[in-house]
Amino acid sequence: MQVEGAVALVTGANRGLGKAFARALVEAGAAKVYAGARDVATVTDPDVIPVQLDVTDHARVDELARELGDVTIVINNAGVAYGAQAVGGDDLDAHRGELEVNYFGTLAVARAFAPVLKRNGGGALVNMLSALSFVSFPQFGNYSASKAAAWSLTNALRTQLRAQGTQVVAVHAGFIDTDMAASVTSAKIAPEEVARQTVEALRTGAEEVLADDTSKNAKAALPNDLTHIYPNIQKDYDAATAATATAS
Ligand SMILES: NC(=O)c1ccc[n+]([C@@H]2O[C@H](COP(=O)([O-])OP(=O)(O)OC[C@H]3O[C@@H](n4cnc5c(N)ncnc54)[C@H](OP(=O)(O)O)[C@@H]3O)[C@@H](O)[C@H]2O)c1
Repeated sequence: MQVEGAVALVTGANRGLGKAFARALVEAGAAKVYAGARDVATVTDPDVIPVQLDVTDHARVDELARELGDVTIVINNAGVAYGAQAVGGDDLDAHRGELEVNYFGTLAVARAFAPVLKRNGGGALVNMLSALSFVSFPQFGNYSASKAAAWSLTNALRTQLRAQGTQVVAVHAGFIDTDMAASVTSAKIAPEEVARQTVEALRTGAEEVLADDTSKNAKAALPNDLTHIYPNIQKDYDAATAATATAS
C-alpha cells in the first residue's frame, strides 16, 4: 500500500520499537501518525499525535476506533514480557497479564479497527510478533505462548480481512535493542531497522517480515524443531538449572 499520505495508529508508541515505528511512518510521508500510549505525557516525538490507549481497556479501544475514523494503517506493537514460566511462581497473574496485552490487546485492536480500515479502502494491519512465535524458550514460556497465539491470530485475520482489501503483516524478530531486552547481552537488532523493514513490507505488499537471522532461522527450522531446535534449548536450560542449583 502507499504509505505516503496514510493515516497510522501505532500502539505502545511512546518508547522502544513503537516509537521507532511511529518515526519511520512520519519519515515515509504518512499524513498523520497517532501514537497510542498509556500515558500521553510520555510521547515525546513532536511529529506524532498522542492518543491515550491501554490495549487491555477494551471499552477505550472501541471508543478510539470511533474517534479515529481516518486510520488506514494500524500497528499492533504494544507488548509485555514478565518472564512467566510454565511451571513455577505462586499464581497465574503474570501469565494472564502477558496474554491480556500480547494476545487479547492485539485481538481487541484488530476487531475494533477492522471496520475502520474497511471503510477507508482496506489499508493495512501490522502485528508485532517475535521469533518466539515459532520457538518456545522455557525462561519465556508464557510470553512465547502469547506470541504463538498472536501469530495464529494474525494468519486468521489475514484470511478473514483479505476480502475487504486489508494487507495483514506479521513482523518477527529475535532480540531488539529496547527496554524489553535491556538485560540481554546477545545480539540485538536496532528498532529502527525493524521499523524500516516493516514500512518496506507495507510498500511492497509483503505479508511477513523476518527481520533478523534469529527469526529467519527459527521459521526455517520449524519442520525439524524437535531435532534441530529443542535439543539445544534443552542443553542450555539444563546447564542453567544446574548452575543455579550449584550456586544455592
Ligand atoms: N525487545 C525485544 O527483544 C522484542 C523482540 C521481539 C518482539 N518484541 C515485541 O515488540 C513489541 C515492542 O516491544 P519493545 O521491545 O519496544 O518493548 P518495550 O521497550 O518494553 O516497550 C513496550 C511498549 O508497549 C507498551 N505497553 C505495554 N503494555 C501496554 C498496554 N497495556 N497498553 C498499551 N501499551 C502498552 C509500553 O508502554 P508503557 O511505556 O506505558 O509501559 C511500551 O510503549 C512488543 O510487542 C514486543 O513483544 C520485542
